[in-house]
Amino acid sequence: MTINSLGLVCSACGLLCLFVFFSQTFSLTSAKYTPDWKSLDSRPLPAWYDEGKFGIFIHWGVFSVPSYISEWFWWYWRGTKPRPTAVKFMLENYRPDFTYADFAADFTTEFYNPDVWADLFNASGARYVVLTTKHHEGFTMWPSSVSFNWNSKDCGPNRDLVGELASAVRSRTDIHLGLYHSLFEWFNPVLRQDEENNFTTKNFVTNKAMPELYEIVNTYKPDVVWSDGDPAPVDYWGSKEFLAWLYNDSPVKDTVVTNDRWGEGTGCKHGGFFTCADRYNPGKLQNHKWENAMTIDKQSWGYRRDANIKDYLSIEEIISTFIETISCGGNMLMNIGPTKDGTIEPVLRSVCADGTFLPTLL
Ligand SMILES: *[C@@H]1O[C@H](CO)[C@@H](O)[C@H](O)[C@H]1NC(C)=O
Ligand SMILES: *[C@@H]1O[C@H](CO)[C@@H](O)[C@H](O)[C@H]1NC(C)=O
Repeated sequence: MTINSLGLVCSACGLLCLFVFFSQTFSLTSAKYTPDWKSLDSRPLPAWYDEGKFGIFIHWGVFSVPSYISEWFWWYWRGTKPRPTAVKFMLENYRPDFTYADFAADFTTEFYNPDVWADLFNASGARYVVLTTKHHEGFTMWPSSVSFNWNSKDCGPNRDLVGELASAVRSRTDIHLGLYHSLFEWFNPVLRQDEENNFTTKNFVTNKAMPELYEIVNTYKPDVVWSDGDPAPVDYWGSKEFLAWLYNDSPVKDTVVTNDRWGEGTGCKHGGFFTCADRYNPGKLQNHKWENAMTIDKQSWGYRRDANIKDYLSIEEIISTFIETISCGGNMLMNIGPTKDGTIEPVLRSVCADGTFLPTLL
């Protein structure tokens, strides 16, 4: 209602209109969110997301270079409980002083054509797409100002992988852009130091994790911020302050949706839609919007060369998962893992590509 039409109605209805005017003003000021869960959780979910039903998740990063076991390869090789398969693979195939960072040089992406990706996602009927901008390895898929020499512009691709997908999707389709971001990083020494200080210091979150989140929102204006970040307290991450900014003042405040992984104990409880656990599929109606983030490769989110065809869900399994999910009020976010070259394997393409896939079921 414009001021003019309000005036017209006003002269007609006097006191009642004054009441409408004040209640509108009141609701405008009370729409400001404060950094506490009660306020943040009261924000209505933008309608496009519930209507969307189906999205594509893309797990892509330096882990796509070894492309072995899963996107957790670095952790399996060097983490606290190394897996013999990962250790053996490195011993047998790489020189002794090879580091994980050395994989980045082979993250070539020479066949990455974001226009082709956008058309494929569009043909699948997906209404949104969510790209890993930074997984637990810490490598940023955009030229981050706070990830010196561990980003897709300074090493490996020499490209802004996030920006290119954002442009392609926006110029060719109506698909909403979503960005996945891992708050935590497995081996970042600054985070480890904060952890050793029992999170009384916040050097990692202040200088790395949060600047990244603000940067990707301001630069790429995503409609989904898909956070991953459980192993530290919410107050350490400053997630509530970030969400209040996102909902009140960010360039996407009216359209953005968020998930529920904002620190310890938030899953299935706080934030926007609930993801609860990977491949969450509760099998009954939920009273809060939720998402089934699932994979075509049953064992991995990232591309892995050791997958067999039986490791992939069949088209029948994917369709029944989709029906179970949306009939219980969820959205399905179906994951694919591109190769380090920037190609999407034929088996994954065929699931997405035939254009008569999931939307015809709606
Ligand atoms: C996207 O999909 C819609 C609906 O299937 C179709 O009409 C449109 O031509 C597609 N756009 C591109 C760029 O493929
Ligand atoms: C760490 O912090 C938590 C809560 O902030 C507290 O309960 C715990 O005792 C602390 N642990 C140490 C070792 O300081």
